[in-house]
Amino acid sequence: MSHLIAPSILTADFGNLQRDVEMINKSEADWIHVDVMDGMFVPNISFGFPVVTAVKKHATKPLDVHLMIVDPDRYLARFKDAGADSITVHYETCPHLHRTIQAIKELGIRASVAINPHTPVALLEDIVADLDMVLIMSVNPGFGAQHFIEHTYKKLADIKAMKRRYNTELVIEVDGGVDEHNIARLVEAGADMLVAGNSVFSQVDKIGAIAKLKNA
Ligand code: DX5
Ligand code: ZN
Repeated sequence: MSHLIAPSILTADFGNLQRDVEMINKSEADWIHVDVMDGMFVPNISFGFPVVTAVKKHATKPLDVHLMIVDPDRYLARFKDAGADSITVHYETCPHLHRTIQAIKELGIRASVAINPHTPVALLEDIVADLDMVLIMSVNPGFGAQHFIEHTYKKLADIKAMKRRYNTELVIEVDGGVDEHNIARLVEAGADMLVAGNSVFSQVDKIGAIAKLKNA
């Protein structure tokens, strides 16, 4: 299977969100990545339920909802109702991660855990068999268009080994600073799904930029 591309609407034009979602529909993208930030876990606020609902209304691709919020358990059902097909919670925000993952699965959608750049992959050892996806942050979460952290390649080697051992179906997602220069190496290192915000939305030909990432 070739790698999956999930353009992040964080860098979309919010005044023309329908247009940008329709652009993604027409492209070779596989998922739409939706970044929810609360100004608490991360130093930025993005958007909440009404925007996710609006994106869902126009999207023909599934929504990959990345929750950068404290205590995400409170809102799992509401994000499912808003249109999430997959929910990612952060390891750093979930003291009862196993319970949170089961709660996402009970909603009938895909369950995923993200780890920050400083969080070791080894901490996922006892949960990875229960997950559909792991999201490796390759920037510090909170903003688009940041510089890719090279240490990510080492983390990919670690999570790839864990996948082989505990859960061969696991999807490994990389989020932050992905572009046409590093994507081939990331896929080679084990990434199955790549998020791309700035490297798509900063281009004039966005559909072409997605095609380039998809066919890298
Ligand atoms: C960062 C977000 C990312 C972001 C990626 O906190 O989780 O999904 O939108 O944007 P780029 O591709 O511009 O680094
Ligand atoms: Zn994200």
